[in-house]
Amino acid sequence: MAIRKPINSVTRCLLTQLLYSTVCVLFSATGVRVGATVTRELHRGFTATPDPSISPFQALLGDSTGNYSMGFLRVNRVQLALAVVHVPSSEPLWVANPTRPARWSDQTRVFFNGSLVISDRKTGVFWSTETSGDRVWLSNTSNLQIQKLDDSHSVLWESFSFPSDTLVENQNFTSAMTLVSSNGLYSVRLGPDFIGLYAKFNGEYEPDQIYLRHKALEAKAEVIEGQGPIYIILSSDGYLGMYQNGSVPVDVQSFSTFQQTRSGARWVRIEPDGNLKGYYWTGSDWVLDYEAISDPCELPSPCGSYGLCQPGLGCSCLDNRSDYNSGRCGSPEKDSFSGDFCDANEGKYWVLRRKGVELPYKELMGYEKMDSLAQCEKSCEENCTCWGAVYSNSSGFCYTIDYPIQTLLGVGDVTKVGYFKVRAGAGKKGLEVGYGVGIGFLCGAVLVFGVVVGFGLYRVRSRKRGVGGYMDEDNGVVVGPYKNLGSASFRSIELCER
Ligand SMILES: *[C@@H]1O[C@H](CO)[C@@H](O)[C@H](O)[C@H]1NC(C)=O
Ligand SMILES: *[C@@H]1O[C@H](CO)[C@@H](O)[C@H](O)[C@H]1NC(C)=O
Ligand SMILES: *[C@@H]1O[C@H](CO)[C@@H](O)[C@H](O)[C@H]1NC(C)=O
Ligand SMILES: *[C@@H]1O[C@H](CO)[C@@H](O)[C@H](O)[C@H]1NC(C)=O
Ligand SMILES: *[C@@H]1O[C@H](CO)[C@@H](O)[C@H](O)[C@H]1NC(C)=O
Ligand SMILES: *[C@@H]1O[C@H](CO)[C@@H](O)[C@H](O)[C@H]1NC(C)=O
Ligand SMILES: *[C@@H]1O[C@H](CO)[C@@H](O)[C@H](O)[C@H]1NC(C)=O
Repeated sequence: MAIRKPINSVTRCLLTQLLYSTVCVLFSATGVRVGATVTRELHRGFTATPDPSISPFQALLGDSTGNYSMGFLRVNRVQLALAVVHVPSSEPLWVANPTRPARWSDQTRVFFNGSLVISDRKTGVFWSTETSGDRVWLSNTSNLQIQKLDDSHSVLWESFSFPSDTLVENQNFTSAMTLVSSNGLYSVRLGPDFIGLYAKFNGEYEPDQIYLRHKALEAKAEVIEGQGPIYIILSSDGYLGMYQNGSVPVDVQSFSTFQQTRSGARWVRIEPDGNLKGYYWTGSDWVLDYEAISDPCELPSPCGSYGLCQPGLGCSCLDNRSDYNSGRCGSPEKDSFSGDFCDANEGKYWVLRRKGVELPYKELMGYEKMDSLAQCEKSCEENCTCWGAVYSNSSGFCYTIDYPIQTLLGVGDVTKVGYFKVRAGAGKKGLEVGYGVGIGFLCGAVLVFGVVVGFGLYRVRSRKRGVGGYMDEDNGVVVGPYKNLGSASFRSIELCER
């Protein structure tokens, strides 16, 4: 386990950079082109391989309006995703989530034999709907379905049951589903009476940290215990409705275009910065209609690891000896932002203190009441899974942080003091470092190869840091299409670890 940590964060960082840049450049340069005549349904026996000359989208199936299309989406030049896109805006609304990334090569096949299957001649099946249907069909609401050709066209499988990062109009999002941001860091899930936004700040090590909890207002109807789980639906009238049973919502979050008749499509998406945003399509453009978090400093990690967000002033580093613009706060080591301090080899750290800071979602964090700052610090110091603590002298609340330090919020009250462990770079076993460097070199070689063969146009549009990384996009809204391609960063890792 210990050996895998550095590899993961190094490669994830490098490869995510490459991936996002590639995709951004690729799509801003070409846009999606969909052939004029597109098949309306696929039957048993259908098979397709990606055309090497087509980029970025090869349509296989269209809906009755021509607004939506299912097909091959090129990811990172050489990878292939099976996606449903909104044709006029080129936005992927759904992406299949395979166990391994498929390649854009003649070895890769998508076929329908009752199941819709992505497979590779050499390595076998990547993804399958595991159904026994008669046709594949795309509804005029972008729902990809496997149907039986009986009288009622019964649906055996549908993409609406397996959403990616986007929820479209009238799609039923239930408590059994999860929306996951394209970088895999943030997710949306439903609780018994709330919508929760969660962050994966410490990889697979810890449970996700909740950073936003929207409880049902229950103005028109109440959530009744034992009456079944809640679900949410994005209404054509411009609101996100939460329901338990029946048509009366237990909660309504209205958008800017609330109750205005709009001809275009709407969708809600969990963005790579952790915000939940609503958009509508005007016919030529998509417009921001709603955002769950409007103050950038309230985002889960707007300035990255060991960053400080000051409302009105923007980002800096918690440690004021380091320069935020240099691209990294805290430790210079890339593998410093995961795991804990319990392993003897990885347990070394130094302590950073900062006055006038608090956690951006402290009302959702656990705390203990303590008599002094010293006691609060001691409790963290003595616990090897603790990464830091924030103490409020006025309330006596001691908040402990059990994941790598993210962005703290700058406040005027200097009696709020933060204590943060910063992993010391040195002190690892030679063997481990050697192995890490070796794999790093391998990944580096793959990376360089990709860049050289691929293209000269390399533009860094986003940065990502460590495992608790974040997208640093100029003010969030990147209206370029395809900023969100599956859990692409994780696919890249597999590429390197193979
Ligand atoms: C796309 O869908 C909208 C409804 O959302 C419809 O009014 C429009 O005609 C459709 N466009 C095409 C090209 O069919
Ligand atoms: C369809 O193909 C998959 C993968 O080869 C296979 O596992 C499955 O049994 C096939 N299904 C049918 C109904 O033939
Ligand atoms: C979409 O399909 C439904 C029936 O499935 C139909 O009633 C509706 O008019 C269609 N909408 C458009 C925009 O074609
Ligand atoms: C949404 O899904 C839930 C859970 O499966 C179900 O109880 C509810 O009736 C569905 N609502 C709609 C409008 O389809
Ligand atoms: C940061 O700089 C301020 C002065 O600008 C100083 O008062 C403070 O102690 C410094 N904090 C740290 C953690 O170095
Ligand atoms: C250490 O911290 C973790 C998480 O903050 C907590 O669950 C655990 O109980 C703590 N251990 C001790 C010995 O206090
Ligand atoms: C912290 O609170 C205690 C008692 O509430 C008070 O005596 C002390 O002066 C405060 N310390 C600071 C730095 O404000």
